[in-house]
Amino acid sequence: MPLKVGVVGLRGIGQTHCQCHSTNPLAQLVAVCDVIKQRADEMAAKHKVKAYYRLKDMLDAHPDLDIVDVCTGGYENGSWHFEPTMEALSAGKHVLCEKPLSNDIGEAREMVRFAAEKKVYLGCNLNHYFTPTAERAKKYMDEGNIGETVNLLFKVGFHGGEETYGFSKSPRFNQPYAHMKAFLTHPFSVMRYFCGDITHVQTFSTKPGFRKNKGDLLLSVNSVHVRFANDTVGYLLSHRGDAVFGLGGWWSCEVAGSRGTFCIENCIEKLTYWPAPKKGEGYGLGSAPKPEVLDTGIKDFGDTFPRRINAFLEDVTNGVPREHLRSSGRDALATLEYIFAVIESYESGGKMVRPKALPTIHGDPSVENI
Ligand SMILES: NC(=O)c1ccc[n+]([C@@H]2O[C@H](COP(=O)([O-])OP(=O)(O)OC[C@H]3O[C@@H](n4cnc5c(N)ncnc54)[C@H](O)[C@@H]3O)[C@@H](O)[C@H]2O)c1
Repeated sequence: MPLKVGVVGLRGIGQTHCQCHSTNPLAQLVAVCDVIKQRADEMAAKHKVKAYYRLKDMLDAHPDLDIVDVCTGGYENGSWHFEPTMEALSAGKHVLCEKPLSNDIGEAREMVRFAAEKKVYLGCNLNHYFTPTAERAKKYMDEGNIGETVNLLFKVGFHGGEETYGFSKSPRFNQPYAHMKAFLTHPFSVMRYFCGDITHVQTFSTKPGFRKNKGDLLLSVNSVHVRFANDTVGYLLSHRGDAVFGLGGWWSCEVAGSRGTFCIENCIEKLTYWPAPKKGEGYGLGSAPKPEVLDTGIKDFGDTFPRRINAFLEDVTNGVPREHLRSSGRDALATLEYIFAVIESYESGGKMVRPKALPTIHGDPSVENI
């Protein structure tokens, strides 16, 4: 039996989610909701489902709904997530929420706490590592071909520069921390996927002159130095369309280890793996081991959406223990704790900050055999 899904928030991303559910055999899209009537009506007509203009009405009309998929946005792309998520959780529904979980750390903590209390799944659309590149990279790690991780380097940016820059007064993004809150959840989620929890954060943030001259409040360039719990050190450089990125494309992630190093380029497009030299096999400067390259041929980042949504549908269908849910609300909360540590570090002139630890996992005696 496919899972019955209702999608809330039907602008660009909500439309993408509707399409994913409509074409996935694990799901049955049954209802859509947007406070803007025209958006709801158009999506309902396209997918031949019912339109609603208030989540309460959708929940009342479909008591058998399994999943509410929250695709609202708001200030810093996250101020409209809390209310619909809490309403759906209250009704006992599983929730898939777009990232960031919220633009408010207190709200995000409460969402995770409340989902655990209600014993339902809360997932987040941390789609950047639901890719063949990340999957292959993880396999290199699991098979011991990376060894002990030494360092991680993440670069992410949108193509841009002073010629193409356009100042927007919208409060959605004309805020100092909008890029950090709306976007850093993605690179942090990938960094944590490969190297685990981050325990130390130190940040410098700035913006180029062409932004300053317009009075743009957004801190668009973020230079973040981190340390992971497993002692790996890492670096994240992120900008929002202030330059052309160069090597590695719009995002690259290199993880170097004692037995090998990999680098993902353009998120979903390419993975390169370099094995470390074996005993008696040295490499001088200028020479290098022969790399293995996985070129997926996929250029469209949009391919990450059906992959991630399919993983959520699989996990809910299979009834996995809640703490095993891939890309869970708790995973998303971790990235927000790092983001709020980034902000605190910036505000204190680059002080080293320890992100708040995640809530303890208690386990569920009814499903787990400890
Ligand atoms: N995972 C990714 O790769 C990715 C990429 C881009 C955007 N996003 C995220 O997707 C989300 C949505 O982005 P967008 O640009 O489509 O959003 P948006 O803010 O432009 O649109 C949200 C829609 O939700 C509706 N809405 C808001 N509150 C509502 C409520 N309580 N009930 C019903 N409808 C409501 C609005 O009317 C609007 O149509 C954002 O959180 C953004 O961060 C994710």
